[in-house]
Amino acid sequence: MSAIKEPVVIHKGLDNVYVKESRICFIDGEASKLFYRGFSIEDLANNSTYEETAYLLIHGWLPTASQLDQFTSTLESYRPLEPEILELIRSLPTQSDPMDVLRTAVSALGSYDPQPMTDDLSVRIDKSLRILAKIPTIIAAFDRLRNQRQPIPPMGHQSHAAEFLYMLTGKEPDAKDVHAMDVALILHAEHEMNASTFACTVTASTLADMYSIMTSGIGTLRGPLHGGANEAALRTVLEVGAPDRAEKYVVDALAQKKRIMGFGHRVYKTWDPRYLILKKFAGELAVKKGQTQLFDTAVAIENSARRHLEGTPIFPNVDSYSGIVFHLLGIQTDLFTPIFAMSRIAGWTAHAIEYLESNRLIRPKALYVGPVGLPYTPIALRSGKVGG
Ligand code: ACO
Repeated sequence: MSAIKEPVVIHKGLDNVYVKESRICFIDGEASKLFYRGFSIEDLANNSTYEETAYLLIHGWLPTASQLDQFTSTLESYRPLEPEILELIRSLPTQSDPMDVLRTAVSALGSYDPQPMTDDLSVRIDKSLRILAKIPTIIAAFDRLRNQRQPIPPMGHQSHAAEFLYMLTGKEPDAKDVHAMDVALILHAEHEMNASTFACTVTASTLADMYSIMTSGIGTLRGPLHGGANEAALRTVLEVGAPDRAEKYVVDALAQKKRIMGFGHRVYKTWDPRYLILKKFAGELAVKKGQTQLFDTAVAIENSARRHLEGTPIFPNVDSYSGIVFHLLGIQTDLFTPIFAMSRIAGWTAHAIEYLESNRLIRPKALYVGPVGLPYTPIALRSGKVGG
């Protein structure tokens, strides 16, 4: 047995560890800047659509009109669910967490993909597009079933955002709601090597199939420190309930060392640029829907938290207003993280494909600090804890 000879640096949380070179996403966390494939998030939010952004992320360039047409028709053809997947969703308990349902359904989709798994990157992309197209249908079908309504098929010839809102509500959504949803999807589509993207990359590095890769991403996104924060942030706003209760909430939370959800980020040490865009949409939707109290409460929490956290690098992140936007669109809180996955699948795909272009199995190390050479005690002779 060889002892470790050199001093070992443990990168807990892998902070500042680079796992690859990438051309997909650049975040300048000090300057509040985010670029997808070199294009600023503000330009994409103002001018693009989710479909175009997904194409950009996955293929690496902005599509021509005919490339985009082809891409949207592919999504349209993949959007309906196989009857077996619908049956599977029906069979799950209605009180299931929608992230459990999404993870299970995406995993099961792999069994119904007619194309065999190959290492061909174009086949991998096609499999990802199947998943990307079907996720809104899965989320909407489960939400309708748990609310004693029958799932409905997509309208056809509509955007990803519009189809999702339609399949969820059964009503043709208005243009402003579709636009808000579309922008929210653009803003969540990619964010460099975050926890879920890293999970997808690790799975990709084993040469596993796209369904396994995306299932890893969905499972990782679920946690409250990552994708789950948008739900927690909205719950906080609903709980606080009114702007004049915000200050007390923030003071009590900070005194009890609780985290203010929707604040703080591993990379941004100033404003998350996505927060600014979503705050504007949240404010406009609040006026449109006549629900300004909710928005005003979120602003009061933000202002109070910013005052109390002044001098720290803890600023509002994307989740401080994304939940307000989704809530104002009439979406149930526990669907926010599935919606995040519905968007982020574009970024997960882009990173998995990029990593596979020059793959190396990801296999870090753990520094063993336990005992070695313990005598094995037969079970009959053990009383209490032996080893460990
Ligand atoms: N509210 C209050 N204090 C905070 C917050 C917060 N939201 N975030 C960090 N801090 C404090 C910590 O308590 C810690 O203080 P201490 O040094 O006195 O113990 C200090 O800031 C550093 O905290 P870390 O956890 O080391 O910072 P890190 O950069 O790893 O945190 C994280 C990033 C996990 C996102 C954190 O800010 C957090 O928990 N935020 C709330 C959850 C959230 O909004 N997540 C969404 C992130 S965006 C996304 O994933 C889409």
